[in-house]
Amino acid sequence: MRVAVFSTKPYDRQFLAHANEQYGHEMIFLEPRLTLETLPLARNFAVVCLFVNDIVDAAMMAQLADGGTRLLALRSAGFNHVDLAAADAHNITVVRVPAYSPYAVAEHTVGLMLVLNRHIHRAFARVREGNFALDGLMGFDMHGKTVGIIGTGKIGLEVGRIIHGFGCTILAYDPYPNSELIELGAQYVELAQLFQQSDIITLHSPLNPQTYHLIGRDAIQQLKPGVMIINTSRGALIDTAEVVEGLKSGRIGYLGLDVYEEEADLFFEDLSNKVIQDDVFARLLTFPNVVVTGHQAFFTRNAVEAIADVTLANITAFEQGSPVNTVTAEGTRRS
Ligand code: NAI
Repeated sequence: MRVAVFSTKPYDRQFLAHANEQYGHEMIFLEPRLTLETLPLARNFAVVCLFVNDIVDAAMMAQLADGGTRLLALRSAGFNHVDLAAADAHNITVVRVPAYSPYAVAEHTVGLMLVLNRHIHRAFARVREGNFALDGLMGFDMHGKTVGIIGTGKIGLEVGRIIHGFGCTILAYDPYPNSELIELGAQYVELAQLFQQSDIITLHSPLNPQTYHLIGRDAIQQLKPGVMIINTSRGALIDTAEVVEGLKSGRIGYLGLDVYEEEADLFFEDLSNKVIQDDVFARLLTFPNVVVTGHQAFFTRNAVEAIADVTLANITAFEQGSPVNTVTAEGTRRS
């Protein structure tokens, strides 16, 4: 099929082109994000392939349908950036890559915990300046700490496995408890208990109306003073302005982010010669106890290979009339 592939970087092209040797689709690689301005580029493409910051609202969905689009193939597990009700209304099928490497995201998550705890980001800078003093670099043993995992699907479970290896106590919150995590000794509790007892809280639930600004003013007031918060899920799970206040007061002791609620205008681009206009984000970067990575938790060779392969297989399955890995407004279902 003819596929308009938005938001492509050189690595996307390399891995998609290689995987496509097996599938034989006609891929047109486009650098820009899909926005109202770039939407005409999608015209006459039955298949449009999108990444996490290609945001499709109802009005854009109507225009895509008008231009002949029948399939949106997401190169991501998350699908919060696409208006699924509008897709259903216009008979546009949406498919995604439900699992490409939970290990990639889980390992990055724990990496952020260790960097923050042992101040590795500061140690790196100091040692390069010839400063070998240890003042301010004292960490804590992960062993024996209580880690609260919110969202215990594929990625949350893998985080649980790794920190279980460290000897952490695991508290968990998810409307659908995961029996494998319970077997590791995790205890499912109400959110309030998780907030009050966790030394580290890590977020792995999808962004939906229930999880939007889950870490906001109310939650922050309940947290253990000095708590570490890690978010590698979706930015808007955190109310960033409130978290900045929590950092200033010391209620939040460490913050590790791979995602940010206004990341679409920042991430995946080299903005090093530009002035950042987002004051909340700019403030975040001033804290010594905050580490931000630019939505790279997924970014391992294994994961990018799997994303390319599953995306192309999804397109082929749609072409053959039996779509798989579909997502609809009613929720996720594998067909
Ligand atoms: P999953 O679907 O396997 O697990 C999500 C879990 O969240 C499920 O167990 C679900 O029951 C739970 N959940 C749903 N509503 C909840 C709520 N209100 N409170 C608590 N838990 C809730 O998804 P997976 O693969 O583990 O991915 C999790 C999220 O990670 C994705 O939705 C995506 O946003 C994000 N992600 C981030 C990446 C990155 O590079 N930073 C890469 C891949 C995924």
